[in-house]
Amino acid sequence: MNTIQSQRHPAAQSSPFHPDNHADYLAWREQKLHQYPQDIQDLVVEIGDPRQLTDSEFQHLQRLCRKTNMVIYAGNTCTDPDPNIPLALGRAFGVEGLNKNWLADDTGLTSLKVSEAGVRQHYIPYTNRAINWHTDGYYNRADEQIHSLLLHVVQRAASGGENRLLDHEIAYILLRDKNPDYIRALMAPNALTIPARIEAGKIARREETGPVFSITPEGKLHMRYTIRVNNVICADDAMTSYATTALKDILHSDSPYIYRGLLQPGMGLISNNVLHDRAAFTDDEEHQRHYYRARYFGRLLGT
Ligand SMILES: [Fe+2]
Repeated sequence: MNTIQSQRHPAAQSSPFHPDNHADYLAWREQKLHQYPQDIQDLVVEIGDPRQLTDSEFQHLQRLCRKTNMVIYAGNTCTDPDPNIPLALGRAFGVEGLNKNWLADDTGLTSLKVSEAGVRQHYIPYTNRAINWHTDGYYNRADEQIHSLLLHVVQRAASGGENRLLDHEIAYILLRDKNPDYIRALMAPNALTIPARIEAGKIARREETGPVFSITPEGKLHMRYTIRVNNVICADDAMTSYATTALKDILHSDSPYIYRGLLQPGMGLISNNVLHDRAAFTDDEEHQRHYYRARYFGRLLGT
């Protein structure tokens, strides 16, 4: 069952994320915001080798993912480019349905680094340019939405390349606090349309229309979003326009809920596909930014 059809599912009706479920929402909200970390350092867990995660390391990582939908690990593998590092973490978190995109490596991971030649140089992730706020796979089909995202840093850039991160459940709270109708507008099945990608006169990816916020059959919140304005069509009504403006205002604000940091070699992000961006960066001979990215259809185990 995909998330778009699932809004009428019984689990969705009783979810705190359903806009009509006021009592459960308030209880969930209070618990969520209680002792919510407001410093990126509070998200960092020092571990040994991610390929040999101990039970206590895993539990520590999982506990933070339950709270904030993300955790940053600092492992001891430094610039080791072994793809098994992120793959082992994915397995530990029970997510194996790897979404292998057309520019992925043979392992199913995507190597994000500057590409001077070939098709990759035409796509922003493979350049040194900034990437604005988004969740991964916003252009995917409804039944192939990305529910978890792992990033592993093999090498950082000489300068720049910081990431900002925002728990999508916090974005939901900030919007619902302003006006629950914003949530209703962003849950509409036609809230956000990503036009088809045309290459050499052919449809390389078809147009995808769907909600920004949706509730999974398990009652969890999913977000499908990009802040970009080119090639994105929002539903043509006043409330959707107010809601998307409010969301942009949050993302452009200096909210203490927005984490910002530079990940070092051996570090990485484990997340339920939270909102994130990337600053522009500059490489030199020694520091050529290289991130592995893994996208999965399932949520992190036990979160
Ligand atoms: Fe991304």
